[in-house]
Amino acid sequence: MGKVAVAFASAAVVAACSVAAVMVRRRVKSRRKWRTVVEILKEFEEGCDAPVGRLRQVVDAMAVEMHAGLASEGGSKLKMLLTYVHDLPNGTEKGTYYALHLGGTYFRILRVHLGGERSYLDVQDVERHPIPSHLMNSTSEVVLFNFLAFSLERFIQKEGNESNSQGVKRELAFTFSFPVKHTCISSGVLIKWTKGFEISEMVGKDIAGCLQGALNRRGLDIHVAALVNDTVGALSLGYYHDPDTVVAVVFGTGSNACYLERTDAIIKCQGLLTTSGSMVVNMEWGNFWSSHLPRTAYDIDLDAESSNPNDMGFEKMIAGLYLGDIVRRVILRMSQESDIFGPSSSVFSQPYVLRTNSVSAMHEDDTPELQEVARILKDLGVSDVPLKVRKLMVKICDVVTRRAGRLAAAGIAGILKKIGRDGGGGITSGRSRGEMQMQRRTVVGVEGGLYMKYTMFREYMEEALVEILGEEVSQYVVVKAMEDGSSIGSALLVASSLQS
Ligand code: BGC
Repeated sequence: MGKVAVAFASAAVVAACSVAAVMVRRRVKSRRKWRTVVEILKEFEEGCDAPVGRLRQVVDAMAVEMHAGLASEGGSKLKMLLTYVHDLPNGTEKGTYYALHLGGTYFRILRVHLGGERSYLDVQDVERHPIPSHLMNSTSEVVLFNFLAFSLERFIQKEGNESNSQGVKRELAFTFSFPVKHTCISSGVLIKWTKGFEISEMVGKDIAGCLQGALNRRGLDIHVAALVNDTVGALSLGYYHDPDTVVAVVFGTGSNACYLERTDAIIKCQGLLTTSGSMVVNMEWGNFWSSHLPRTAYDIDLDAESSNPNDMGFEKMIAGLYLGDIVRRVILRMSQESDIFGPSSSVFSQPYVLRTNSVSAMHEDDTPELQEVARILKDLGVSDVPLKVRKLMVKICDVVTRRAGRLAAAGIAGILKKIGRDGGGGITSGRSRGEMQMQRRTVVGVEGGLYMKYTMFREYMEEALVEILGEEVSQYVVVKAMEDGSSIGSALLVASSLQS
């Protein structure tokens, strides 16, 4: 071999060695980054852990807080609000009624016709629209209520001859999914906004009065006959179909529960008389808090950066508005500490860019290559994400949703415990778990997009409920889904309240 050839060959060897060295260095670096990611995931998973022992502590805390909230005004973070609903619809109601539902993401308008028997419930028309975001944060409530009145007017104009209530004053339920302090079934003031709404002028104002004013301004002959929390609407529909329904829960953009309570247990309102001896209590459980809740640094940051810090702590761990953002925060930290999502990962610094419906679609992606995950990431501007990273995404969604479902179940079991339907006889009966109370069938009505559309959330919740209550007691607890239950049930409530 000539000198030139030798020099050439050794240069090639040196070049090959340095390429190999670069590759090895890269591989080591990428392995190190992956290890960082795995550690972040592990730490997060541990932080979210909710074994049944911990859930039982949450159950107890929920039942104790319910007592405290019923004992005195401000006695607990649970407001335990009176609704003045004591007679739930029983199937004998007749007539045509309307409901306007202002929820967290959508508003709905519907008309129901009741024929005086349970089977004669006819939901004649339903409209569902997203709430324009400028209305949620406008400076004056007039803009919001004028918009609602306008939408209602259009709905009625479309009725033509379909409705048999032409020429008759229309009776309307206003399903208002926010905390209200009621003075009677048809009136109450807004306590505070939740779920990102921020029209500060409205806090303290009579909500039904605001809507009635807007309807009058448009010259509409519509009477706001009831102001109803969405949970109370859901309970009404549940009870109408099945009188064993005593609890209703909403898992949607926000979360909350209500239940039928004995009036003598509502100590903060002594002497409260109702014909039925009971009243529906709106718990506003989104604000529940207990040191037993598995809270992570991501939850703390989410809360601090929200429009309502130090408020609605439970809701921020279990409701649809927030699950996507918890996932986003975990991804953001991973992408800051490694570059597994590549250069376009800065999109994850945008609050709420990842919605819970995307979380559910990724979580439930059953294609072998996780194509749905790839599509959602691509829509966010993050392309060419390797399969292993896509699997990681699914895992993060799973951790967040599993915790949410399990905590939701603990919340429900807490209510069952308070009313003595958990097989233990409640927390004040002095009965031990061994001395089982005679079990009664108990129906829990559930409504809201998170529950209806996110199968894994639903499964985790139902599975944890059985774990907490045990197989035997669980047989008596029926969880029933109720699509549009809040709005339909509110209309039923107007009917029953006007008839009683
Ligand atoms: C509100 C509740 C409502 C729940 C579900 C919460 O943010 O405070 O009043 O029932 O969301 O919509």
